[in-house]
Amino acid sequence: MAIKIDKNLFYIQSKGLSLILEEREGYLLLKHLGKRIDTYHFSNQIIEREHTFAPNPNPENRGFSLDIQRQIFGQHGWGDFREPSIRIQHGTNDLTDFRFKEAQLLAGGLGPQGLPHPYPNQEAESLALILEDSLAQLRLTLYFTSYEKEATISAFAKLENLGSERVVLERFLSLCLDFPRADYDVISFQGAYGREKSLGRQELSQGIFTVSSNRGASGHSQTPSLILCERETNEVSGQAWAFQLMYSGNFQAFVQQNQVEEVRLGLGINEQEFSWELEPGQDFQTPLALITYSSQGLTQLSQASQTFIQGQILPRNFAFKPRPILLNNWEATYFNFSRKKLLDLLDEASQLGIELFVLDDGWFGQRNDDSSSLGDWSVNEEKLGGSLESFIQEVHAKGLKFGLWIEPEMVSEDSQLYRAHPDWAIQAPGRKHTYSRNQLILNLANPEVLAHLKQVLDHLLSRYEIDYIKWDMNRNMTNVGNGSSYLETRMQSHRYMLALYDLLAYVTEKHDQVLFEACSGGGGRYDLGILRYFPQVWASDNSDAISRLAIQYGSAYLYPPITMGAHVSAIPNHQMGRLTPLATRSHVAMMGNLGYELDLTNLSSSEKEQLASDLAFYKKIRPLVQLGRPYRLINPSKNSNELALQFNYRDQVLVTYVRIQGEIELMERTLRLKGLAEEGLYQVQEQDKCYSGAELMYAGLTMFLAEGDYLSRQLHLIRIA
Ligand code: GLA
Repeated sequence: MAIKIDKNLFYIQSKGLSLILEEREGYLLLKHLGKRIDTYHFSNQIIEREHTFAPNPNPENRGFSLDIQRQIFGQHGWGDFREPSIRIQHGTNDLTDFRFKEAQLLAGGLGPQGLPHPYPNQEAESLALILEDSLAQLRLTLYFTSYEKEATISAFAKLENLGSERVVLERFLSLCLDFPRADYDVISFQGAYGREKSLGRQELSQGIFTVSSNRGASGHSQTPSLILCERETNEVSGQAWAFQLMYSGNFQAFVQQNQVEEVRLGLGINEQEFSWELEPGQDFQTPLALITYSSQGLTQLSQASQTFIQGQILPRNFAFKPRPILLNNWEATYFNFSRKKLLDLLDEASQLGIELFVLDDGWFGQRNDDSSSLGDWSVNEEKLGGSLESFIQEVHAKGLKFGLWIEPEMVSEDSQLYRAHPDWAIQAPGRKHTYSRNQLILNLANPEVLAHLKQVLDHLLSRYEIDYIKWDMNRNMTNVGNGSSYLETRMQSHRYMLALYDLLAYVTEKHDQVLFEACSGGGGRYDLGILRYFPQVWASDNSDAISRLAIQYGSAYLYPPITMGAHVSAIPNHQMGRLTPLATRSHVAMMGNLGYELDLTNLSSSEKEQLASDLAFYKKIRPLVQLGRPYRLINPSKNSNELALQFNYRDQVLVTYVRIQGEIELMERTLRLKGLAEEGLYQVQEQDKCYSGAELMYAGLTMFLAEGDYLSRQLHLIRIA
């Protein structure tokens, strides 16, 4: 049984993971979140003595304070001085006193309505914990879903207005959990445009560590997830908990260590840009959050998260489907292309064995730079030298699939769409726009806009034989103010997200044979909400192989590598100016979904030969990267000069080793491989050498590199006995 109710104890059990709660006097107290235990008898109980300045709700019991108890939900205003999970304006104040009413066991997995959630899973079980505040006439339900075969529990919450007056939600987190006093580190994925998902690890100390976005998107510079781990946790040992929000808009995530050195973690919509009016009879549901746990270090945590996302969240048609190797014309031509240029690229691509040709920005309206035409999704036949149909036919005739770039959520001021509907852009009345890449965001919260976009995308995908869509989003939200009242405006950012998910669900379900890749100037919206509809993401506009080491490391830390687009680009690299050998550029891109983004017609014949052989090699090892599990052998932490990553899939192994700067008088690196069968015999391909799994794991495999910068090595091993 994945969920057990034993009198006033609730056990929410997933694979290797327990969340155990106690109900006492209507409060829900957190007893254990960690390695699975099947019976609990309060061995770790809190000593209930009086703490000074810790208020007690019951005058008879000065030892019971909400500021001290570990909870799964933080009430505002009753003397729990930590960050609350909820704040609701009702009557004259925002005090609520939710007390437990009943628990309901529910079959299957549950998720919030209108928001992304894992696929329904018959093997899952859910628990609804229902609390009520009788004075405020509000009902709060906390939902938890457990999975017998996954080290993950999911959670979300619902608030219902049972009264006769409108109330206003000012804050409502998806998840709030209290951890016992210990030495913890927190890991987050921050960065910037061009250096997304930089992993940072720091010690927790008294105060609040918070990561959040108020951009209307999760953003390049932060990710809606946090990992909490014990200070001694490393790749292979120690406890670690990952918390991820399945939401692509404004979020907040924090860990707070309070005065008694206990830790509260919270995750949910960012209250800074949020309020929600709840009329009598209405409810509000939070985005879903995931809790993933490992008792054996960070590699196991990553693999558990990757397995859950690939099996339960990524669109079913593509979750385990090998991804085509693509050529994208963006860095090859930018806006400046003609039919002839595209056909020359296509010729080269087909000769090399590339499988998908992607036509990027510039094919529509009058778009020859970034100043116009977003919103006018009609083909510029003059620039394309004919119809889009005829171009797609040429691509298909060469045996490649066809992909198209689009940025549906945006509008250029210089566009027919904006001229016809200036009020469709996000804008506060009477205020000027703020520009970003010359473009404005359409207010998806307006039903007319949503209907228009559904029609545009439907038309495009029905009329043309499109196999792949790159869905871009190149600015963040400002000047939000389209609401008819202040409160309506405070609801606009979340309404935008609800409408966006409605649009994504509509388009991706209706056109479920199309492979959708998300992009937001690279990884500006690379989050679990997006991954529910788009099975892959262009991880960064920075295509420099060396910069990519850290970007890919962070991107594929909790997300499966099959979600990550990785392209070989030209040298000098367009973002960094770096000159990296082709072999290294290939090796790095081959750790994700391989693609090319350079002018193939400029390559020498020896470069083309190398590219063709790289492509053929990738086709062999593609299942390892896209279906296998990664093991981090050397992490590219700050100031580190090397990275080594291993993928295991069935009887095959891929090892990639990259050294950034050349070194003098240092011994070669010997990599101890991981996850092999000790007694298995592994043959290093294209070398006449075999080693036992035990030898490779315990003695290791030495990497030899010549002198020089930016060099790498990639080895493919197959188990032969
Ligand atoms: C964004 C994307 C790029 C490219 C351009 C086109 O910057 O990240 O890959 O598609 O838009 O304008």
